[in-house]
Parts: sequence; C-alpha cells; structure tokens
Amino acid sequence: MFNLVIFGAPGSGKGTQSEKITETYGLHHISTGELLRDQIARGTELGKIADSFISKGQLIPDDLMVRILDAELDKPEAKHGVIFDGFPRTIPQADALSKMLAKRGTALHGVVGLELEDDELIDRLVKRGKESGRSDDNPETIKERLKVYHTTTQPLREYYINDGSYKGVRGHGSVEDIFSSIRTHLDALKANEPI
Ligand code: AP5
Ligand code: MG
Repeated sequence: MFNLVIFGAPGSGKGTQSEKITETYGLHHISTGELLRDQIARGTELGKIADSFISKGQLIPDDLMVRILDAELDKPEAKHGVIFDGFPRTIPQADALSKMLAKRGTALHGVVGLELEDDELIDRLVKRGKESGRSDDNPETIKERLKVYHTTTQPLREYYINDGSYKGVRGHGSVEDIFSSIRTHLDALKANEPI
C-alpha cells in the first residue's frame, strides 16, 4: 500500500504525470477534477453543484469534496494505493485526508510538488483551452484558478514541508525528464516504506 499526493498549480502537469506514475507503480489514480467533470457530463445533481464552482474557477466546498473522496476510498481499486491528483487543495482537506487514510489503517507516504512559474502555466492552459472544451480553460477563469491556488492551496506546500513529506520537482522540460525526476524520488521512497 502506497499513497501519494501529486501537488501543483493548475496546468502544472498533475494529470500528465499521474498517468505515468499509475502505469509504472500500479497505483489507482483519483483526480478530483476528472471525477467532478464526469458528474457534470452526466448531468447529476452533484455535477450541477460542481459546475457552478468550476466554471468560475472556484473550489467546491470542503465538506462536499471530503465526502466524495471518502466514498472513492471505499472502492476496491483504491485498496492497493492511490495517487491523489487535485486533492487536497486546502488545509482542512489535508487534515481530512490523513484521517480518512488512518481510519483505513494506512497513511500518506509522500507528496510530489510540480514547481513552475505562472507564465508557463497560463501558456499551457490557454493553449489547451483552444480544444479542451473545459469550461475553466479560458483566460478569465485561468486567472481566477491561479489566484485561488496561490491564496488557498499553496499554503499546503509549507504544511507538507513541515511534516517532512514534500518533495519539489522542477515542472519545466519534457514530460519524460520530469517523470524521470519523480521516479528517482519514488523509488527511494518506496525502498524505505513497508509496502
Ligand atoms: P483540476 O481538474 O484538478 O484542475 P487544475 O488543478 O486546475 O489542473 P489541470 O487539470 O488543468 O492541470 P494539471 O496540473 O492536471 O496539468 P495537466 O497534466 O492537465 O480541478 C478543476 C476544478 O475542479 C478546480 O478549479 C475546482 O473548481 C474543482 N476541484 C478539483 N479538485 C478540488 C478539490 N480538491 N477541492 C475543491 N475543488 C476542487 O497539463 C496541463 C496542460 O499542459 C495539458 O495540455 C498538458 O498536455 C500540458 N503539459 C503537461 N506537461 C507538460 C510539459 N512537461 N510540457 C509542456 N506541456 C505540458
Ligand atoms: Mg488535471
């Protein structure tokens, strides 16, 4: 059992690197953004609530997000280790995550933070917005997402530095080079964890 958070700003490559980590380490990928977009696409009640926040670049309330996560962790595919992508995004979510994992007899083993400047994030998201169809990939909402990231989510970097679980990785360069840095770290981490 190995649980990992991939942390970073909007557009930092969390989804892209999660796919590679999943392939290599066999972890179950939980992307809260993907999960919510799926609900929106299916027109569910939850989707309607989520859409009202996502399209403005704002966060879904913590209590709702934590309930969704708790249900995801009960799924059998989550039993052998999870990569959390886009969660936690607030300090209360981080506290809830450690409790949810402890309740299941496990813990968070590491946090990998993709670090890069806002200019590059904006370039990537504006570029993707031309074809992604994501309601939040437009210049105005991208600006709001980055603002929310800096005020509400970035403090988690400090939170995880303080508890010793944070590892920053340079988020510029090719997908393969970034993954190679992540793999070096994860291999060392796994060697020290009873799996
Ligand atoms: P979420 O879906 O998590 O979106 P995000 O954090 O804004 O980030 P993205 O998914 O846009 O980027 P990413 O870091 O995954 O990068 P990617 O690999 O796609 O959340 C969306 C919304 O849902 C939130 O705003 C909020 O409203 C809500 N939400 C979600 N979780 C929540 C929570 N826990 N609490 C409350 N609300 C929540 O890459 C980005 C682009 O760059 C792609 O086009 C990719 O191809 C490209 N790219 C990737 N790597 C590279 C590279 N090395 N070089 C060049 N281009 C690259
Ligand atoms: Mg993503």
